[in-house]
Amino acid sequence: MKSITPIQVAGGAAAALAAVVFAILLSVHIFVSPIQWWAIWAGSAAAGLAAFGVFYFAIESFINHRIKVIYKTIHALKSPKSTQVPRVEMTGDMLGKINREVQDWAAGKISEVRELRQRDDFRKEFIGNLAHELKTPIFNIQGYILTLLEGALDDPEINQKFLERASKSVDRMILIINDLDTISRFEAGRMELKLAKTDLVELCKELIDGMEMSARKRKMKLAVDHPEGLPVWVKIDRFRMSQVLTNLFSNALNYGNPGGSCTVSFDDMDQHVLVEVSDDGPGIEPEHLPRLFERFYRVDKSRARNSGGTGLGLAITKHILEAHGQSINVRSKVGEGTTLSFTLPKA
Ligand SMILES: Nc1ncnc2c1ncn2[C@@H]1O[C@H](COP(=O)(O)OP(=O)(O)OP(=O)(O)O)[C@@H](O)[C@H]1O
Ligand SMILES: [Mg+2]
Repeated sequence: MKSITPIQVAGGAAAALAAVVFAILLSVHIFVSPIQWWAIWAGSAAAGLAAFGVFYFAIESFINHRIKVIYKTIHALKSPKSTQVPRVEMTGDMLGKINREVQDWAAGKISEVRELRQRDDFRKEFIGNLAHELKTPIFNIQGYILTLLEGALDDPEINQKFLERASKSVDRMILIINDLDTISRFEAGRMELKLAKTDLVELCKELIDGMEMSARKRKMKLAVDHPEGLPVWVKIDRFRMSQVLTNLFSNALNYGNPGGSCTVSFDDMDQHVLVEVSDDGPGIEPEHLPRLFERFYRVDKSRARNSGGTGLGLAITKHILEAHGQSINVRSKVGEGTTLSFTLPKA
């Protein structure tokens, strides 16, 4: 859109008035009594000049002055951290400047609002998920307590069984709360890593040994794909990295095919080691992959909930790796398997 400056408005008005005065003087010259040509020109020019002065002064003091104040206010609003209203130099195209300021400001606000809405959606979803996760164990505990109060307390066999079940539900709630606490501490940057030179091969073997029973139950094989006796030295927090690997191995066991396998391998990448945990399970549909690391996200909701996962494992995994300055990636093919890969700094 083309804008007009006060000079152009005043100039236009002056030209129009000069033309009117010229026409009047010319009519007088022709129809009433002759006037000198220099007087006609001088009269028109004087009228034009006077009109220019009056219009320019009026626009400048009545309109532009007010617009300048609005401009200053918008400018101050655009940068909420500024404590002072910025000084605005007067230019011819004040309206154009205001237009640009308002558009910039509005664009900024629109993206801010979009971001806030997105965050609000995440917050609502998170609260909904949390309520849902806590509801099951709480209702279970309530059910067991009520049954005991209604008389089952007198039967030693039933009360032992119900108290054990209630205790399991309490354990589940504690697990969820502890996982959330870990995530929020990482998010707040309050989680300190104890970095130490560690042999990744030895750590993986130790964790796999500890999961032998679960693997046997699922008739699955967990293995380290690396030449015997060759260490892979990395600088990591051993406890936190054990959490990462345990979650990846247990995911492969829980969601993989019975009788299948999961392998961890290491590749040299100059300053880093690339770690890949691959399984030959059913794989994950592409639409789930971008959301896999969100809190409480599960692919097969009902199955995962029954199998005991909180849906927080990969969210914690991502945070732990980010705290190590690394990131995690997933690739998966339905019917073929899933690979989670990340890098670690060499020691
Ligand atoms: N290797 C895998 N193969 C197929 N699906 C997987 C695999 N790993 C993860 N998933 C899917 O991703 C979801 C999220 O995994 P995540 O580890 O975050 O949570 P979880 O295993 O359900 O619970 P938690 O780890 O807290 O006990 C799982 O519920 C599962 O649906
Ligand atoms: Mg898991």
